Amino acid sequence: MDIAIRTPGSHAALSTATLGRDLGFGKYFADLMFRMRYSEATGWRDPEIVPYAPIALDPAAMVFHYAQEIFEGQKAYRWPDGRVAMFRPEANAARLNRSAERLCMPAIPIEDQMQTTFALVSMLEAWVPAAPPSSLYVRPTMIATETALGVHVSREYLYFIICSPVGPYFPKGFAPVRVKVEPTYTRAAEGGTGDAKCGGNYAASLLAQRVAKEEGFDVVLWLDAREHRYVEEIGAMNILFVIDGKLATSALRGSILPGITRDSILRLAKDQGMVVEERAISIEEVTQGIERGTVTEVFAAGTAAIVTPVGVIGWGGKEYVVNRNAVGPVTRRVYDTLTGYQFGKNADPYGWMQTLASVV
Ligand code: PLP
Ligand code: COI
Repeated sequence: MDIAIRTPGSHAALSTATLGRDLGFGKYFADLMFRMRYSEATGWRDPEIVPYAPIALDPAAMVFHYAQEIFEGQKAYRWPDGRVAMFRPEANAARLNRSAERLCMPAIPIEDQMQTTFALVSMLEAWVPAAPPSSLYVRPTMIATETALGVHVSREYLYFIICSPVGPYFPKGFAPVRVKVEPTYTRAAEGGTGDAKCGGNYAASLLAQRVAKEEGFDVVLWLDAREHRYVEEIGAMNILFVIDGKLATSALRGSILPGITRDSILRLAKDQGMVVEERAISIEEVTQGIERGTVTEVFAAGTAAIVTPVGVIGWGGKEYVVNRNAVGPVTRRVYDTLTGYQFGKNADPYGWMQTLASVV
């Protein structure tokens, strides 16, 4: 893909000033973006890197009405030797294409996604923080731009990538969170779009999350839509348990996003000698297991927060305290191993990390 560079480059003083701030998550944006357009007649065209700026769209653009929108979330990490690397970027590209298929949107060849992402991140190298766990969050996004009000598959799209230097997703950092099992609402149902990364899923999650916050919890634990009994995800993260010394997680069954962090952790844990199970896990199994001492650790996994220990689970008017509200040994090991690779502290034996120079 021939990417046009329509900018003199990134503003060094701006990146330095921004990285000196308390970054939080997704508050600041690097000053360049990638974009390209699609129409049925031309396919993907006009790939370019331009200054970060608002997008002008017709008010009848279909994304505003029928939410034909998908996105990805990945990170660029600064290594101690100054190099910048991304974690399994081809897995994010493949997932974007799976989401695209579910939402009737056009795919972008994986190598083109890799090339455009790496071209942008290379130009924004100065925006990659040097202090773990901070990193540069990369957000590829595709929206339907045809101007039309009838419900149908859009014939035009915009794809863009923006980048945000970020600190920890949760203000407390790597510390146990309080989780509320959602008794009423569901995030996604089998046959729906739960396994696609589309904006509508997140819109559907907001009300439950707001109520949970008002009740003093950090995040919602979602149960399945059919029986309201089986554990699915925590907020926008996958969920894992240590049960009887084994690492267990909910099997993917259409309503759960196949997380790249989840997949990586299952692989790591297996290689570290743990028995790994992907299966249905009911909320009774979890709460009773906590009381009996068989469920010893619970944690969430996702790109944004990496690994998040769960300290308290609220369900049925009771609070179940996991591992005395402390970070358990498996959670700690998984976190250390994964962040060790991501931040270049330890060599990655899986070939998951790709330095900028390896693709551009
Ligand atoms: N589940 C949902 C709903 C998500 O939005 C994410 C984040 O992308 C995840 C799980 C974790 O996925 P990953 O590990 O690929 O970031
Ligand atoms: C994740 O990376 O874990 C996410 O869920 C991203 C979130 C900001 C939507």
